[in-house]
Amino acid sequence: MARSLARNDPALYDRLADQWWRPRGPFAMLHWLAAARGALVPRAERPGAVLVDLGCGAGLLAPHLEGKGYLHIGADLSLPSLRRAAEHGVQAVRCDVGAVPLVDGCADVVVAGEILEHVPDLPRALAEACRLLRPGGLLVIDTLADTALCRWLAIDLAERLPGPGRHGFHDPALLVDREVLVEECAAHGVRLKLCGIRPSLIDLLAWSLHRRKSVRMVPVPTTAVLFQAWGRKANRPY
Ligand SMILES: C[S@@+](CC[C@H](N)C(=O)[O-])C[C@H]1O[C@@H](n2cnc3c(N)ncnc32)[C@H](O)[C@@H]1O
Repeated sequence: MARSLARNDPALYDRLADQWWRPRGPFAMLHWLAAARGALVPRAERPGAVLVDLGCGAGLLAPHLEGKGYLHIGADLSLPSLRRAAEHGVQAVRCDVGAVPLVDGCADVVVAGEILEHVPDLPRALAEACRLLRPGGLLVIDTLADTALCRWLAIDLAERLPGPGRHGFHDPALLVDREVLVEECAAHGVRLKLCGIRPSLIDLLAWSLHRRKSVRMVPVPTTAVLFQAWGRKANRPY
């Protein structure tokens, strides 16, 4: 019998590495979120532009960057996941997002999709994201808020849904404090805008009935559960 893993153990992703690209598998919602994240990334402004994808998993963002002109570098701890990412054109780097072996200012865009709620040291991961960004570069984030509602919806309820591999992905203690997020990024020169999102309920119903292949994420008036955040790094000293 497989050893049961602690909450938020990155080995959970190693074990499910063959599930990443299944559109109806345990990572289905990550596909929908990757599409919403990709929509926030503009076409590259220069030849040779670099996008660093922190906690890239198996590279689900890759199809949503196609034709935009970036070299897509993905950083993650999970080697089996990174192997899948490499199959989709991602330049894979195995590392902790708190210590990425890339030079300061190397990235035109840094994305941190569904990773910040997994890191034990949020300020360090944010400092690293901002360090990698060139002045004028864009930071794109989506993550889960540190609220009672989010703990109930995204952990208590979501983990009880039927289906494989849903248990233990999140540690409630690591959900993201939005004030800390905004303040830390501002301290590193990135002023963030936040917008709450959720899956479209009509799409979700149609997807459940196998009438849609994917589910669109739609804006909601609260950032208390799932939200996106984005901002550019100041050009001048801050
Ligand atoms: C929820 S998945 C998100 C994957 C991807 N961003 C996506 O949306 O498809 C979280 C990913 O973060 C990785 N991860 C967790 N903690 C990490 C850390 N401290 N440093 C690097 N990667 C980490 C896991 O291995 C996993 O691939």
